[in-house]
Amino acid sequence: MDDVELIKEKINIVDLISEYLTLKKAGVNFKAPCPFHNEKTPSFVVSPERQIWHCFGCQKGGDLFTFLMEKEGMEFKEALEMLAKKAGVVLQKKADDKKDFKDRLFEINLKAQEFFHYILTKHPLGKKALNYLQERGILTEIIEEFGIGYAPNSWESLTRFLLKRGFTHQEIISSGLGVASKSGSYDRFRGRITFPLIDAKGNLRGFSGRVLMPAEPKYINTPQTPIFDKGNFLFGLNLAKGEIRNKKEVVLVEGEMDMIASYQAGFKNVVASKGTALTEGQIDMLKKFTENLSLGFDMDLAGDSACRRGIEIADKAGLNIQVVQLEGGKDAAEVIKSDPAIWQKAISGAVPIYDYYLTSIAKRYDSKKPSDLRKIGEELIPVWAKITDDLVRERYIQRLASFLKTDEKILRVAVEKARTASPKSYAPLLQTTKTADNVVPVKGRRELLEEYLIALLLHPPQESDFVPGFPETLFLAEKWRQLYVLLVLYLDSISFKSTAFNINDFVSTLPSELTVEVDRLYLMELDERFSEDKHWKKELEGVISELKKALIKASLEKLSLEIKNAQEFDKMDTVESLNKRFRDLSVKLKNL
Ligand code: CTP
Ligand code: MN
Repeated sequence: MDDVELIKEKINIVDLISEYLTLKKAGVNFKAPCPFHNEKTPSFVVSPERQIWHCFGCQKGGDLFTFLMEKEGMEFKEALEMLAKKAGVVLQKKADDKKDFKDRLFEINLKAQEFFHYILTKHPLGKKALNYLQERGILTEIIEEFGIGYAPNSWESLTRFLLKRGFTHQEIISSGLGVASKSGSYDRFRGRITFPLIDAKGNLRGFSGRVLMPAEPKYINTPQTPIFDKGNFLFGLNLAKGEIRNKKEVVLVEGEMDMIASYQAGFKNVVASKGTALTEGQIDMLKKFTENLSLGFDMDLAGDSACRRGIEIADKAGLNIQVVQLEGGKDAAEVIKSDPAIWQKAISGAVPIYDYYLTSIAKRYDSKKPSDLRKIGEELIPVWAKITDDLVRERYIQRLASFLKTDEKILRVAVEKARTASPKSYAPLLQTTKTADNVVPVKGRRELLEEYLIALLLHPPQESDFVPGFPETLFLAEKWRQLYVLLVLYLDSISFKSTAFNINDFVSTLPSELTVEVDRLYLMELDERFSEDKHWKKELEGVISELKKALIKASLEKLSLEIKNAQEFDKMDTVESLNKRFRDLSVKLKNL
């Protein structure tokens, strides 16, 4: 047992926190108003069973160490020393292993960066890549400023270089630079131009690599590691942040080359989301610098549902969103290469997102046709309903009404209806968003439902031997998939052994990054009715079918776009087969 575990064994978290707050018993847990944010109804929960705390208002949580760190503003080491004294434990080693490990990953990235950049700029092996970049119009000083490099087309040149510099295969694999193999590891990036992925503070978190010749995949990235997460990263923010502040605006493009080209052409308030739809994490990052966001994507924003979701989050976060309309090229890099002035014009002519939706509708539909009118309604009413600001929403209701030549009142009622169409019985969903005193990033309904499903599964009624059988792909979030698979294995084993569900046993089978999530969801307060098997199962079924429906609806939305596209290009065979898939899915949806 290590020091931390020993201390946890000796000090009861309820006693420790009681020194700071008045805890009230609530079922098996304890509750209090949260000491970390302002609130009237208590949402701070302490679990003696798990020896953890969590606040459903501000989403902070952890064990007794993190409580002290938050409450007393201590570093982990200080909290450890203080609690050790309290528990009468003599500390064995002082180093914080986790932190050292991350430092090693940053170090190994820097070493690899040295290697890639040297190969590109100084070594004959980098010649072709250098030519490629020159052909794309990238200047030498930009190659230097961005630290662009080249990974030679070999299986082990980087690996050998890193091993010689004292890194282990394990570290090479954990950093994502190498892929595990029988002999240890081999290079992940081979024959690719490398772009260092540097965060806003200048830390080198990973790399992306682009092929020189047309090949798939065109780009690869450092996978998720302890220091890199693609969804919480924006390319170029380190170089662009100053100019974003100056210009009070950020332009978001899709890829590295778009960002670099724009920066080189002198439009430096630009970052790239690397092809992914906007996430809450990215929006939080941008909000530190500006409230004005211009989207410079090369796709149809109105049609793409992932993109629409990003826009919704940005709107909720209070950002003013505009759309840069690209002409003369498929993306920013192409437009700039043909003529930077066009890019300049596009940026300064960006239109508010909801105007863009209106134009997009006008291009794609004929509002005189009743069937098109219906489709316009289906597409835009939910979008209008999500506009958070009352004045803005009202204004666009009027605009849409006048565009469709319909009565404003009818439209207003429809939008209001879509706004109040709230989830059915899933009470906690409402709770997590409502009790938040403006501190919680608002989660989407789908995310909340997925979390709620996990929370339900973590609270099987006594004597239940139910093992769920739906596929893990019902969860969109990777972590819930992983967790669900482990949970099914665990439920299967206890059902086989006829033992009762024990949260601590289950948690002991989990990797540490999942423990935190489980702890949070385990503390979610569920309706008392669900301690009864019958009600619990019914709620489970309800949530599962809701999630299934949502998945099918998303596929249907995507299909209908594809069908529209295929029709435009007169690909009748494709239209036919897409239509069939559409019909099949619709039937499936109806039968759910
Ligand atoms: N991307 C990725 N993985 C892929 C494809 C794309 O991470 N397999 C990311 C990259 O950051 C890429 C961005 O998504 O820059 C947009 O992809 P795409 O439009 O296909 O590439 P371009 O940016 O146009 O690339 P280039 O200009 O280099 O051809
Ligand atoms: Mn491009």
